[in-house]
Amino acid sequence: MPQATYHFPRGFLWGTATASHQVEGNNTNNQWWMWEQTGHTDGTSGLACDWWGGRWREDFDRAAETGQNAHRFSVEWSRIQPTPDTWDEDALERYRAMLRGLRERGMTPMVTLHHFTDPMWFYEMDGWEHDDAPMLFEKFVRKVVEALKEYCSLWCTVNEPNVYTLSGYVAGLFPTKRHGLNVAKRVLANLLLGHAAAYHAIHEIQKEAQVGYALHYRPMVANNKWSPLDRLMRNIQYNGINMAFPSAISAGVMKSPMGNVRIPEAKGTQDYLGLNYYSVDTIAFDITRPQELFGKRYYPDDSDFSGTKFIANIPDGIFDTIKWATRTYPNLPLYITENGVEDADDKMRPRYIAQHIHQVWRAVNFNFPVKGYFHWSLVDNFEWERGWTQRFGLWGVDVETQKRIKRPSVDLYAEICKENGLSSEMVQKYCPEVFEKLFPV
Ligand code: FCB
Repeated sequence: MPQATYHFPRGFLWGTATASHQVEGNNTNNQWWMWEQTGHTDGTSGLACDWWGGRWREDFDRAAETGQNAHRFSVEWSRIQPTPDTWDEDALERYRAMLRGLRERGMTPMVTLHHFTDPMWFYEMDGWEHDDAPMLFEKFVRKVVEALKEYCSLWCTVNEPNVYTLSGYVAGLFPTKRHGLNVAKRVLANLLLGHAAAYHAIHEIQKEAQVGYALHYRPMVANNKWSPLDRLMRNIQYNGINMAFPSAISAGVMKSPMGNVRIPEAKGTQDYLGLNYYSVDTIAFDITRPQELFGKRYYPDDSDFSGTKFIANIPDGIFDTIKWATRTYPNLPLYITENGVEDADDKMRPRYIAQHIHQVWRAVNFNFPVKGYFHWSLVDNFEWERGWTQRFGLWGVDVETQKRIKRPSVDLYAEICKENGLSSEMVQKYCPEVFEKLFPV
């Protein structure tokens, strides 16, 4: 049996990612809380993982003790700026304490400034549809970066602007007042302007800052590659879902199925690109789906499915994602800002982790500049409209008692982080079912 270790470069960041609303608890002043109280989600976030009550300490201990040297979390706009004219200095102080907490544990922080939640006052004025939104976001970002710059220089402006926009303004799963492709186009354009304004503001405040955003990137294949309609639908979906931000940052023009928008301010506004990768979609032409631009997105029946079939385990997709990013932006540093699977029983997670990290290693060996990997997530947390039905944590959380439950993946990921690599022994021990795939003779 072959024995080998796939090593990563020195200084590689190994961590997990979380987001304020999903872990803090009692985030009563944002649009998601409102959405939850009005029955749009499977359960409510409630106390979440009680990080606002201080449990981030024990969870950061868990991360540090298991070899993680980085963590990505987000700050909650609705706490920091509860009304348009007030700043909550105590809230900022808590985030400073969390950042100190990471530093004391030897971990590098990445702070996300917008992860799906907006303050209620912002939502009420029509949120990202409003022309003032980018300016208001910039004001918030300036305040946060001034307050936190002592402890953080790796910033993620906006998480998954494409998911935020499409899940809300098109699919109706996220809180929005209006729907439709034209509103979605406007929201994306404003998010881009907000991102660009934040990028420049952060650099003004902190010279050494590294600023980027997290793109949810979905590789896609046509259901039947010989079918021109399937191929056409695949291209429309691919561009519609993936390309708005990347096209604007490359060329200053946001591409959208509803027409292009010139956003010259956005050109070149990234020092790294964050990639959130989960799975690959298959696209078929489907006349019954005008809402989805006549494209059906699905996973083939014979996929290696996760617990709730939310994810098909397709590890080469992460390699393709990194390859696409490297071709699009040569030499730009890349971080995997999210990757993970919902799997309460931890049946698939060990192989999902090993197989994806193996593909990241392949990418690194092509000299694709991947600098770190953040697993989603450290602990189970509130999964938006899907509530507590999906368990993405390395550690499980009993929401009633707040007890953490260690899953076997914790030990696998700890060994990877500590070794700065993935070895044949680890795969043999935690997911022997993929041994031959990862270490072929
Ligand atoms: C991503 C989100 C993150 C989490 C994972 C499972 O789209 O950024 O908050 O919900 O999916």
